[in-house]
Amino acid sequence: MKFWKFSTAAIATLLAVVSASGPTDGEASADPNSAVVKLTEKKFKSFLEENPLVLTEFFAPWCGYCKMLGPEFSKAADMLNESHPNIKLAQVDCTEEQDLCQKHDIRGYPTMKVMRGPFVQPDDYDGPRDAEGIANYMIKQSLPPVQLVEDASEFVKLTKKENQPLMVQVFPSNLHKKFQASNETYGELANEKRRTMSFFSIEDDAEIAKLNKAVSADLSKLNEPAYLVIHPNQLDDVRVFSGDINKEELTEFSVNAKVPYFGDINRETYLTYMSSPLPLGYYFYSHIDERAKVDKFFNDLGKKYVGKINFVGLDASQYGRHAEVLNMNPDIVPLFAIQDNSNSRKYGLDQTEHPNGPSTKDIEKFVEDFLAGKVDPIIKSEPLPTEEEIANQAVVKLVSHNYDDVLKDTSKDVFIKYYAPWCGHCKKLAPIWEELAEIYESKSDDSQVVIAHIDHTLNDVDTPIPIEGYPTLIFYPANGKVDPKTGIREHHLYTDGRDLESLMAYIKKKGLGVDGEKLKAEKQIIEEEADEEDVAPKEKAEHDEL
Ligand SMILES: *[C@@H]1O[C@H](CO)[C@@H](O)[C@H](O)[C@H]1NC(C)=O
Ligand SMILES: *[C@@H]1O[C@H](CO)[C@@H](O)[C@H](O)[C@H]1NC(C)=O
Repeated sequence: MKFWKFSTAAIATLLAVVSASGPTDGEASADPNSAVVKLTEKKFKSFLEENPLVLTEFFAPWCGYCKMLGPEFSKAADMLNESHPNIKLAQVDCTEEQDLCQKHDIRGYPTMKVMRGPFVQPDDYDGPRDAEGIANYMIKQSLPPVQLVEDASEFVKLTKKENQPLMVQVFPSNLHKKFQASNETYGELANEKRRTMSFFSIEDDAEIAKLNKAVSADLSKLNEPAYLVIHPNQLDDVRVFSGDINKEELTEFSVNAKVPYFGDINRETYLTYMSSPLPLGYYFYSHIDERAKVDKFFNDLGKKYVGKINFVGLDASQYGRHAEVLNMNPDIVPLFAIQDNSNSRKYGLDQTEHPNGPSTKDIEKFVEDFLAGKVDPIIKSEPLPTEEEIANQAVVKLVSHNYDDVLKDTSKDVFIKYYAPWCGHCKKLAPIWEELAEIYESKSDDSQVVIAHIDHTLNDVDTPIPIEGYPTLIFYPANGKVDPKTGIREHHLYTDGRDLESLMAYIKKKGLGVDGEKLKAEKQIIEEEADEEDVAPKEKAEHDEL
């Protein structure tokens, strides 16, 4: 859950660069003369029955990225129609086929899915978006999940040509009988992970002997099948799986070994890093020379801490804003920071101490300390509200430093507005939120309903769901369950009307049942009485002055 919070934030800033340049013109809908098939609800099922492998794009005609993709999608369909006519590319216009798109849970455009017949759960497409990339990706999908290596020298050539790491099972003949189950496990892994990596198996002894000469691992006297991950052009540095051959361990190995010791994070690679559970160490550089200087250092460090932490370079001239997600200052580069995917905490080398960038020595020490649990995370927070601020506001002001404390009290309903200072809808909601807080007397110790808000741009807090827009209203009912692992309590995302009545009705229904309408009516009576009392002394005062 928390991991996804990080992912969306990271993706948002890494993608922001693209939207800045703006999508180019083109038609979202594919060229009607192309091989792209336009699908409707009626045709859908029979089309999947007839075509075992289909890439379907769900789109809306107005969407910018769909317009970028349209022409490429058409081109890819034509390429495949010529070379691999069994692979089909199809489009569904979600403004016309709303039911069909809803059935496929389409939440953004364009969404592409790889479909293998009407009865298999489709896979999300996560490949490139240019014609050639799309065609190649789909050709790979059409191959069996594990490809048998017939010729080791051809295979070696392939590893040099590929730009992605690949995995190979080395399975000599004397082990064939005994390790049938391992071979099957490998096949299952390949079937599941084929979208992200190519899988091979080499089972002929003569070919294994040839491969043995080309790679750094010793394959001559295996007592069990060996599993290698080979990075492009790195036959002298293959990663070898050791341990029990069960699917979990093998999967973990494939995920960890897939990332280079020191790669670059960008739009093409972020998914690889986000899908790894390991912490991610970032080196921000503003020029390629800066990166070149630390390349060897980070490669060695990556090797040393393989399976513990991944290291990436980040081109700050393109993605520099991402520093903010890491609670670092984007203006001071080079910088080094670590994001822990498992708990979304961020750690960074002090930038004021290293205005010209940290030395490799500093980084090495920092990483060591981090892994030993000796580094404190950087928590972005506004200061705690002052007495004056508290007195002047009915709404309870949350910042990172008091957020957990307020949520920890499960005897109260807590309703939080996550907002950004620049957001227009937040400003519109503010007076209503204030009134709501007054009605429940949120600040008082005996209040059963805490109406709170937090400036989410200035405070780095965990949320049970990713905050993707402002304002986001999350209601945490009293006495709700608390997830023992994450410490996050039961929650509901509020999506009803943003008027006082709807909000009060929701609180009454979902929470302890406190009746806001009643409180409001009582308050009005008291206020009216108070007003009357008020009037008298005032008149008197004025009178006195006269
Ligand atoms: C697809 O290929 C077939 C066979 O080559 C050809 O007859 C057909 O015109 C092609 N379709 C499109 C839309 O290009
Ligand atoms: C291993 O499994 C693959 C399918 O994934 C199969 O093609 C191959 O024949 C198997 N090898 C042996 C030696 O059984």
